Formats: sequence, C-alpha cells, structure tokens
Amino acid sequence: MVVGNKLVREVGNWVDGDKFVGRELESTQLTELLDEGPNVLLAAPRRTGKTSLMRETLRRLDDRYNCVFVDLERVSGPVDAIVDLALAAQPHQRVGGRIRAWLERVVPRREPSVEGDLRERFLDAITGDWPAKGDRLLDDLAEAELPTIVFLDEVPILLSRMLYGGGRVMSERGRNDVDAFVSWLRAAAQRHRGRVRFVVSGSIGLAPLLGRARLSATINYLTPFRLGPWDRQTADACLAALANNYGIELELPARERACERLGACVPYYVQLFFSELLADARTSRRTLVTLVDVDRVYETRLCGGADQASLKHHVERLEMVLGEDTSLAVDLLSAAATSLALGSQEALELAQRHPRGGEDPADTLREVMAVLEHDGYLERRGLGHVFVSTLLRDWWAKRYCAEAGATANRRRR
Ligand SMILES: Nc1ncnc2c1ncn2[C@@H]1O[C@H](COP(=O)(O)OP(=O)(O)O)[C@@H](O)[C@H]1O
Ligand SMILES: [Mg+2]
Repeated sequence: MVVGNKLVREVGNWVDGDKFVGRELESTQLTELLDEGPNVLLAAPRRTGKTSLMRETLRRLDDRYNCVFVDLERVSGPVDAIVDLALAAQPHQRVGGRIRAWLERVVPRREPSVEGDLRERFLDAITGDWPAKGDRLLDDLAEAELPTIVFLDEVPILLSRMLYGGGRVMSERGRNDVDAFVSWLRAAAQRHRGRVRFVVSGSIGLAPLLGRARLSATINYLTPFRLGPWDRQTADACLAALANNYGIELELPARERACERLGACVPYYVQLFFSELLADARTSRRTLVTLVDVDRVYETRLCGGADQASLKHHVERLEMVLGEDTSLAVDLLSAAATSLALGSQEALELAQRHPRGGEDPADTLREVMAVLEHDGYLERRGLGHVFVSTLLRDWWAKRYCAEAGATANRRRR
C-alpha cells in the first residue's frame, strides 16, 4: 500500500506490498471465494493487474495456505507446465520438502556431491505418462497439512500455443493436447476438492479460445472472477502519491484530466502516464504539471510514441484467440475508433465483407464481437460499441487509420 501517501513507481513488473495500490474490494472478494473452496478463473485484459492481485493475495494468505505461483507464459506444453509447478513448489517452506523427497525417489541423484540441474531432474521425473506423474505430484501437495492454492498465470497463452503451434491455423493434434491438459486439470481439482485449489488466470479470453476449440465444458468448474480497471478515485490516489514521492505538483484538475484522457484507468497506463509526465517535467526542469502538459504528453508520448510494444500486444492477442480470422476484428475496431459508436448495422455489413466458409455473417459477427467484449476492447453503450480505453482507441486510430485519426482528434475538441 501507499506508504505515508508516497508511492514508488513501477511500470511493467507485477507489484505487491508497499507498491500495491487499491484493490481492497477485489482482494477481499477473491479471498472469500478461495476460503469457500472454489477454483477460480481470473480474467482481465493485459496490464490490468492480475499478476499483482494474485501475488498480493498470495502474500496475504501465505500463513493459511501453501501458495504456489506458476507463470505459464513461456511454457510449451503439459510436461513443462508440471515441471514449472514442481520447481515453484520445491523452495516452499512447508511443502518443498515433500516435493524434493518425491524427486529423490523418482530420479535419485547419482553423484551426491554434484548438485544436479533441478529442472533436468524434474523433466526426467515427469516426461512419459505426464498425467499419472503429474497426479502423483498433486497427490503429494494434497496431503500437506495446510490446503494448497496453485496460481496458474497466463494459461490461455499456453493453450493458444498448443492449439495453433505458432501458426495461425488450429490443428487437430493441438486440440487433443489441449483437451488432455485441461481435462487433467479439472479432474485434479475435483479429486482434491478442499485440499488443492487452482486460480487460473489469463489476459486473453480462455472461454472464447476453448469455445473455438469446442472444449468449453472443460472449464465449467472454474468460478469466473473479472478484474476491471481502477475506479477514478484509486487512479487519482495513485497519481497523487506518485507525484508526492517525486516532488511534482500535479493538482486535482491535472490528475482528473489524465484519468479522463485514459478513459479506462488501467493501472499500468496510469503508472506509465505519470512516468511520462515526470520525464517531461524533469527534461524541462519544471515541477508544476499543468492541464496543457497533460494533454501534450498524452498526444506526443503516450499515444504518439511511448511504449508501442504494449499497445501492439493488443493486436497480437487477437491472433492468439482468433488465429487467421483477425481481419474482421481489425475492421470492427477501426470502425469503432473513427466513429462515436459502432452501430449494429454497420458491424453486420463489415461481417458480410469477411465471409467465413458458408457461415452466417451474423454468427461470425457474434463470435468476433464476443472476443472483443470479453477481452476488454469494446463495450456496448447506448448507440453501439465503443472502445473501453480511450488510449487504445486513439492509438488504434493513429496506427490503422491516419485519416480517421484526424477525425477522432477533431471530434474530441
Ligand atoms: N495494484 C496495483 N498497484 C500499483 N500498480 C499496479 C497495480 N496493479 C497493476 N499495476 C501496474 O500495472 C503493471 C502491470 O501489472 P500486472 O500485475 O503485471 O498486470 P497483468 O498481470 O494484468 O498484465 C504494473 O507494473 C504496474 O505499473
Ligand atoms: Mg500478468
């Protein structure tokens, strides 16, 4: 939490403890859910603070549960996933001994003097019949004195990689592998109910992804927990505490303007905005940040040039869920970026221009729109669909529709 109303910035890595802002309600709700025993699906667009919420929850629950955190972003398949789970559990104060003893039984160290590479040994232990070997590992965790929570971060990225194999077309083999993995996880969660629970998290929609693979039923044991952006009050408190820490005068109107420009106060972009304001102020040796500075920094540094990688990621994410079918999604987003709202008739006309096999364009549209809504790009308002994040909308307009970008800017003035 904010110490003495001062906050040290963090732009990128997950945060906990002193750097963790807000989320009291979400943290309480997540804890309550876990205490009641369900397995949880924590979904939110990238940079909303999922990993931070999990890490902070883990920190707060560590005396009541054995908490094990596994990041699956770079993992290629079930064997690696289970190896990473074992590696994450083995340093744990309360369950580590059990895991290491299990490893010693399965793959004894030949040379006691040589500290064998742990990853290699776990890999040896789990390769070949991974479901049965993975079960044995979880059985061990289930017998520990305290119940265990396994946090699995970025699961959809792993599943997307398995489904599409790095390409853009879903393979039958990939589908079968995903089926085997998610079914194994569900069976394990059910077998160890009350002893081992899973928090499955991801930035891209697990439900739409598995829906496309016709595997939706494999996640119906997970209780959905959606994480939204910060409310304005939290974003404002964060900006004030950052300004206070770095000796910058960022008065209420300027802070309000910053939140207004962002549209949705996604924590990462709040922190990034502050960092850019600070860099701008330091460069020109000022301490006062005015409304004009906020607007200028937004236009030039935030949606103009800064951190394109994280905004670009929003495009790559579409491919992870939709595979080769991103052209309709891109057109829908471009249309929404350049009008007040994307009406349903216009959306349907766009879908008709992107025929998919013999499919009814209304069905294609429904599926693509579900992904765009689920993954936090668009939301339905009175007149039609609009961008949730003004920053993403402005960046999209600049990048994909230069002409339209000018229109969007004119419209705002
Ligand atoms: N509770 C929080 N307090 C302060 N900053 C946060 C918080 N949650 C997220 N952030 C900001 O967002 C960035 C990304 O957070 P992270 O938890 O990795 O998001 P996600 O896992 O959803 O991609 C952090 O580096 C930080 O700038
Ligand atoms: Mg994360």
